[in-house]
Amino acid sequence: MAIVLAIETSCDETAVAIVNNRQVESSIIASQIPVHQQYGGVVPEVASRQHLETINHAIAQAMDQAKLSWGEIDGIAATCAPGLVGALLVGLTAAKTLAILHKKPFLGVHHLEGHIYATYLSEPSLEPPFLSLLVSGGHTSLIYVKECGRYETLGETRDDAAGEAFDKVARLLNLGYPGGPVIDKLAQQGDPQAFTLPEGKVSLPGGGYHRYDGSFSGLKTAVLRLVQQLEKDGKEVPVADVAASFQQTVARSLTKRAIACALDYGLNTIAVGGGVAANSGLRKILQAAAAEHNLRVLFPPMKFCTDNAAMIACAAAEHLSLGHTSPMTLGVESRLALTQVMKLYQSAG
Ligand code: KG4
Ligand code: ZN
Repeated sequence: MAIVLAIETSCDETAVAIVNNRQVESSIIASQIPVHQQYGGVVPEVASRQHLETINHAIAQAMDQAKLSWGEIDGIAATCAPGLVGALLVGLTAAKTLAILHKKPFLGVHHLEGHIYATYLSEPSLEPPFLSLLVSGGHTSLIYVKECGRYETLGETRDDAAGEAFDKVARLLNLGYPGGPVIDKLAQQGDPQAFTLPEGKVSLPGGGYHRYDGSFSGLKTAVLRLVQQLEKDGKEVPVADVAASFQQTVARSLTKRAIACALDYGLNTIAVGGGVAANSGLRKILQAAAAEHNLRVLFPPMKFCTDNAAMIACAAAEHLSLGHTSPMTLGVESRLALTQVMKLYQSAG
């Protein structure tokens, strides 16, 4: 059992949360989305500066909301990889400072391990092994979760991530940033059968690729061609139908791979994580397919699908209970494979 305060600043949310094992005591998420919207995407320099301005207030709010004193906190954590280097540094430095000031153990956390742990917040009794489908703005992976800190990658995207595909398609439909939530909303008024789009089949393994890899760049290009053709023909682009057809194609593609992978590896639970886990089309299609195969699908609570600090605190609490802490010399990394998570820790004693 451990009570952990965690900070997440890997991209465009300044988030601080306190978690008692798998129970959320407080969760503050200060989104920078409105700031970045004017640029059509995240501007790294602007993100770092915003984190710096917001972080102290977010920490104070998280402490207030949890009604805990520093004496009751067992450890302080921050996302240290992967992400925007300048943005990560703000959170990591704040966490180290608090750890030194209050004489607490410090832990660096891998952002994607956090997304895996988000499911524990709604399913505290979940235990490995299970299959994690990670679908965020930067990643699309199928991960065999063996135990805390032990992960095997079974599939990835060979080009665009699922969330990135949503963002790019939204941009070409002039729907703004971030694309996922807007497309999701529009898709509910559209006809998913209106257009047939390619699911992005990839050839089988070899050359260092995984067996369950996917691809979304062909799908994005197909949407672009479709829109260009409609415009050339002088037709109005039926945006809701395009959104619905695109969303259904992404959901089907992810579902096929996740189900095949779970069945092949004998894993009866699929835990979905990352911003795209909030997608209504994916939730519906994956749940229906899993039921057909007697598999269990778990989604994090909606507010913990996209970036937040509760999921980081939850992962850190488990590492801390296992005696894992990070050295104060730990730095940030823009890229780090999930399979390298244990290099962030030293065992106590
Ligand atoms: O996990 P996340 O907050 O940040 C990263 O770690 O990347 O994921 C953000 C991504 C964005 O690409 C956003 O468009 C997408 O998740 N997203 C969604 C939905 N909500 C957020 N995609 C599809 N449907 C949604 N409802
Ligand atoms: Zn994320």
